[in-house]
Amino acid sequence: MTKCTQTRRAFLAAAAALSGSAFLPLSAMKVAQAAPIKEFQLKAAPGNTRLISQSGADTPVWSYNGSVPGPEIRVKQGDRLRITVENGLDEETTVHWHGIRTPNAMDGVPHLTQPPIAPGETFVYEFDALDAGTFWFHPHQNSSEQVGRGLYGPLIIEEARPIRVDRDVTWILDDWRLTKSAVISDDFGSGHDMMHNGRVGNTVTINGRIPDRFQVRKGERIRLRLINAANARFFSLDFSGHAPTVIALDGQPVTPHAALNEMVTLGPAMRIDIILDMAGETGSQFLVADRFYEGLEYRLLDIEYATEPLRDKTPVWPIELPSNPLAEPELDDAIRHEIIFNGGMMGPMVMAEMGGSMGGDSSGGMMGSMMNMMRGDGMWFVNGKAANGHVMEPFLSLKRGRSYILAMVNATAWHHPIHFHGHSFRVISRNGQATTYQEWQDTVHIAPREKVEVAFVADNPGDWMFHCHILEHQAAGMMGVIRVEETRT
Ligand code: C2O
Ligand code: CU
Repeated sequence: MTKCTQTRRAFLAAAAALSGSAFLPLSAMKVAQAAPIKEFQLKAAPGNTRLISQSGADTPVWSYNGSVPGPEIRVKQGDRLRITVENGLDEETTVHWHGIRTPNAMDGVPHLTQPPIAPGETFVYEFDALDAGTFWFHPHQNSSEQVGRGLYGPLIIEEARPIRVDRDVTWILDDWRLTKSAVISDDFGSGHDMMHNGRVGNTVTINGRIPDRFQVRKGERIRLRLINAANARFFSLDFSGHAPTVIALDGQPVTPHAALNEMVTLGPAMRIDIILDMAGETGSQFLVADRFYEGLEYRLLDIEYATEPLRDKTPVWPIELPSNPLAEPELDDAIRHEIIFNGGMMGPMVMAEMGGSMGGDSSGGMMGSMMNMMRGDGMWFVNGKAANGHVMEPFLSLKRGRSYILAMVNATAWHHPIHFHGHSFRVISRNGQATTYQEWQDTVHIAPREKVEVAFVADNPGDWMFHCHILEHQAAGMMGVIRVEETRT
């Protein structure tokens, strides 16, 4: 009797479970088969690395897991990442997942989204890889020095079905200021760097080494993921004799197109994925030069063709990447905000051009910023305010789910790569002209005196940093907070 009841109960339970799962709606099924969790460990600590292969000297750096760059984190779109960060430095740190649309609490901004990780402590970051693409990670605490000493690494999220290439290569570019004995010059936060174009160094590395040659084969197709991890240096790479095709900007797919003037330009924090078809002759050699700063062009490395070809013709495989699940801003219905950047050392020309149009009020205008500068409140301003640390009142408050246009004006004499956390935006116009590709970015290069409009849906609630990614400009005030309200409209 008892036995029979038990069996019957067991049977009923089993049947319920069965029918339960058989009738689960699709959405619930997805939850049931939660994304696989990929675990990683990062330890930030002092170490040594050989930046210059030929020299006998190691350079003391701060690095993740003892290497510069830190270990590559590579997952598939849809995976969930769990990254345990241990702080082996003598000062506080955090990790920011640049370009990844994480929940606010996982964004790695000290005091604003989390308490900083104290020396000896750990913090566990966990978030979903919503977008496929090329991203990177770095500290958001004392960034100028922590990134400048070597704390950064690549974060690659593969498409479910990646495009076909022969090789998928990442170049993480960096720029160091080294002394003659290959030691990092410790003049972090120098007033001159902050007021001018940031800490531009004297030694450029790719993947933590001064590069020499890049070996390829005729007919080979390479997807080259470029990441600019430098504090302040812009790059304009000229792959002489090769015509790079741009397929993604800041991780986000873009209509494949030839790089403008065959030059690939990226400011600090920006990423560009290009397709390089190696169409040179076997045994030949080509120069890759960086031509961003006029008069300061230099050889980065040589492309060296093997004596054996891989194939005789360029492949004709498709190169268009599948789009990521980004909400499309409704431009007709978008709310518009103006943002003006000023500060820094002004050339007399900019003073004359901007002096009149900025107005002379003492808060947001140029006179205001000059006054603030003289009072020592900061050197760079977002709508007239210089940030001091990461905690501040938001200068913009956005309604969740609504579309916005940010109309930005660079009223300074310098280039600025402007980064917004937690979102990607479409760059819709430059100086009043619609952009050809309406490209998605998370860091937009704004040239001196340029006007750029970006558009996006404020769909990620929280307080998000908005700042220049020249880390010395950021440290000297060029930063603000944009709030996306929790409640939906
Ligand atoms: Cu790559 Cu706010 O940073
Ligand atoms: Cu800047």
